[in-house]
Amino acid sequence: MSRLLTIALLLGQSLAYDTVLGFNSHPLVETRSLDEIYHAALKEGGIVTVWHGGDEKDQQETLKSTFEDRFPGMTLNITVDLSKYLDGKIDQQLYNNDVSVDSIILQTLQDFPRWQQEGALLNYAPVGFDKVYPAFKDSISASWYGYSIFFWSISWNTEKLPNVKNISSYSNFLEPEFKNKLVLTYPNDDDAVLFAFYQIMQQLGTKWFDGLLKQNPRWVRGTATPLTIVSAANYSQSATFTSFGGFNPGKNIKIAFPNDANFVSWPQTAAILKNAPHPEGAKLFHNYLLSAEYQQTVSLSVRQDIKSSGSPYSDIMHTPHTNPTAFARFMEDRVTVERLRFFFENRLGSAEGLSPLIDDI
Ligand SMILES: *[C@@H]1O[C@H](CO)[C@@H](O)[C@H](O)[C@H]1NC(C)=O
Ligand SMILES: *[C@@H]1O[C@H](CO)[C@@H](O)[C@H](O)[C@H]1NC(C)=O
Ligand SMILES: *[C@@H]1O[C@H](CO)[C@@H](O)[C@H](O)[C@H]1NC(C)=O
Repeated sequence: MSRLLTIALLLGQSLAYDTVLGFNSHPLVETRSLDEIYHAALKEGGIVTVWHGGDEKDQQETLKSTFEDRFPGMTLNITVDLSKYLDGKIDQQLYNNDVSVDSIILQTLQDFPRWQQEGALLNYAPVGFDKVYPAFKDSISASWYGYSIFFWSISWNTEKLPNVKNISSYSNFLEPEFKNKLVLTYPNDDDAVLFAFYQIMQQLGTKWFDGLLKQNPRWVRGTATPLTIVSAANYSQSATFTSFGGFNPGKNIKIAFPNDANFVSWPQTAAILKNAPHPEGAKLFHNYLLSAEYQQTVSLSVRQDIKSSGSPYSDIMHTPHTNPTAFARFMEDRVTVERLRFFFENRLGSAEGLSPLIDDI
């Protein structure tokens, strides 16, 4: 009897370790069609609650309406807030065993491997998961994967800067015509902006940053704010390199990529929580996100088999002056992140203003 007990204890123990270490994480591989999942999601109640990282409340309205138009009867209950605030709230839900969110899509890439290890994520491969670049996903557990490439380009207003033909480098911003014309996000308020400055200064040194400060840039919170200000006719600031406008950024806006340092790009990363209250809704949403149908509409796809439509380059891996896998490593290195954040805080002061989700420009 005692031997049986020992074996049972050992088995129990190994199961516990497997959970802790994230072993035994064979994913469920989806084989149903979108239509079949859609019907299961409707039967479940027709709702999926998503927390999406971002810095404007209405930033994901297009995603919401696209999804709801595609799947009538479904509600995409999406909340946008800064990833660095949302991840702590997810931890709280996990700790209290009170998960009310189905799907999370965040910029804090360092959280996903940790949550996977903690057993917090659903090991589930949506259709199309196998096509995602290996560097953008957890291939073994299928618990997280990028769904769209985000990046900061150089953007400027051609109406407000009629004499500027091209901005081909970060050094260009030190030229006299950009004095009082720049609007930038505080690098000490957003880690992806921090990484942008880090990469530039690895090439151009702190001398470049000293020169930039002499241009008297306007510092703002949120990465959507610079492009809003650049686009508006009634603000003098007319160029930025800390905003995402995609390849069709709007009237009078031109974009370019730098040739003297890398620009930031990363796979905005998605996962379904294991205890999601609406698992079928979440599965429908994630299968849609990775579908060829949806991936063809994003600026730069995470799928190897889908060419970008708007970019001058075929896909993210063939885009010069960026390394979309570097940001995840940076985000895991919290010691470097903190050291850099305080370097900039010391030069710029702490970020002023409320969260951009509350603040008006
Ligand atoms: C929608 O999401 C919010 C924020 O997560 C949550 O408080 C609310 O209960 C959700 N609504 C429904 C109908 O699930
Ligand atoms: C602008 O500069 C970039 C970077 O050097 C270059 O790739 C691009 O072709 C230039 N565009 C024009 C219109 O000259
Ligand atoms: C520019 O116009 C917007 C929209 O009309 C307004 O909210 C904002 O206060 C104006 N800003 C300045 C600096 O005039």
